[in-house]
Amino acid sequence: MTLSLFLGLLVLVHSCWTASLPAQVFQASPLLLSPGCNDSQVLSVAGLALQGINDDRKEGYEFSLNRVVDVREHQGRRGSVYYLTFDVLETGCHVLSRKNWTDCAARELHQSVYGQCKAIFYLSMPERIPYLPAYNCTVRPVFRGSVIRMCPDCPGPIYTKISDASILEAVSECLEKYNKEVAVGKKFSLFQLTKAYYQWILGPFYFVEYLVTETPCTKSLPGSEKCLQPSADSKPVGLCRGSLSEIHEKHVSVTCEFFQTQPTSAPGSHPTEQQPPEQSASPSAAAPLQEGPKGSVQLLPDFVDDINEGDQERKPLVTFPVHIELTTEPLGEVLRLPSYFKLEKEDMPVVLPFPGGSRSNGCPGVAANSNPLILPP
Ligand SMILES: *[C@@H]1O[C@H](CO)[C@@H](O)[C@H](O)[C@H]1NC(C)=O
Ligand SMILES: *[C@@H]1O[C@H](CO)[C@@H](O)[C@H](O)[C@H]1NC(C)=O
Ligand SMILES: *[C@@H]1O[C@H](CO)[C@@H](O)[C@H](O)[C@H]1NC(C)=O
Repeated sequence: MTLSLFLGLLVLVHSCWTASLPAQVFQASPLLLSPGCNDSQVLSVAGLALQGINDDRKEGYEFSLNRVVDVREHQGRRGSVYYLTFDVLETGCHVLSRKNWTDCAARELHQSVYGQCKAIFYLSMPERIPYLPAYNCTVRPVFRGSVIRMCPDCPGPIYTKISDASILEAVSECLEKYNKEVAVGKKFSLFQLTKAYYQWILGPFYFVEYLVTETPCTKSLPGSEKCLQPSADSKPVGLCRGSLSEIHEKHVSVTCEFFQTQPTSAPGSHPTEQQPPEQSASPSAAAPLQEGPKGSVQLLPDFVDDINEGDQERKPLVTFPVHIELTTEPLGEVLRLPSYFKLEKEDMPVVLPFPGGSRSNGCPGVAANSNPLILPP
């Protein structure tokens, strides 16, 4: 999946690849280039790396690219290794939807989750290799104190009371409504609660987002359905958003979106999507690459508990510690690529310790959303 997505995107990158040479040269050994963060090829590479991050993740919501903060490029014989730092915004698409992040809108300000990722990305145009060997991200919710000041009535996230009886009631009302009114011959049950918000407008309003799993039902008698309990190894099949309000009377609304490709397929079965021809032609492609995740996402808490009412004006000093390292060798090590990427030994890229120090000229780049509340410092 990741591979075919990347190969699809390669065409896009290629067309953006203009002849402009990076202006700055970082004086160090080995030589690292410092292209500008607003350069179109840097934005394309960051977009590919971000798609790789979203594809690698198993939980949470996809990120969209807000801005490139820093970039170094190490040119090798057949391609470049990029060391990227970029700011991200959480979107409404769950990672299991496998959607292109460019099709996913960032959340509204009061629901924002924002942060920073670091990624190492190898791109060889002549060999058609896009590869993300490592990433790490740190995100946190928008500072609630600032949101309250701008929008006192906006719904606020619920973190601590996730097992709150009202939240569970909202979820079960939404499930019931969907199963009764929309689902036909199927029953959906809760897989995992992913978000919960609370708002007071003349009465309580609960907003919930949750993953659902599917249980088949049989119609034994006309009008009566028998549904099994979801099995222990059941998989999430979709994401639902619902709300429960009780102003004069109970009002429930719910919509669900089902994932195109299921997260797993039965052993021995083939994925429904077409394999790229060069992949199915090579015998090594038959054995799936056994690899763990390439990185992780750390979710830091909001400051809700540290800040009392009087301190709402003061935005706390937030930090986004992100660390990635594939090697500590100052001169680097050969980067191991999956075997389906065929590269001669002498063409293998070298990975260096993640470069630190001051940012490149022309960095950070332009932010898609430059609101300081959702821009890491
Ligand atoms: C993702 O969306 C962008 C922008 O619409 C598009 O150029 C790119 O081809 C898409 N990628 C895939 C794999 O569909
Ligand atoms: C960034 O790039 C865009 C389009 O490539 C351009 O319109 C914009 O002026 C650039 N901004 C800066 C600050 O260089
Ligand atoms: C990502 O961060 C975690 C925790 O800080 C660390 O253990 C891990 O090695 C990092 N991943 C990479 C690829 O550096």
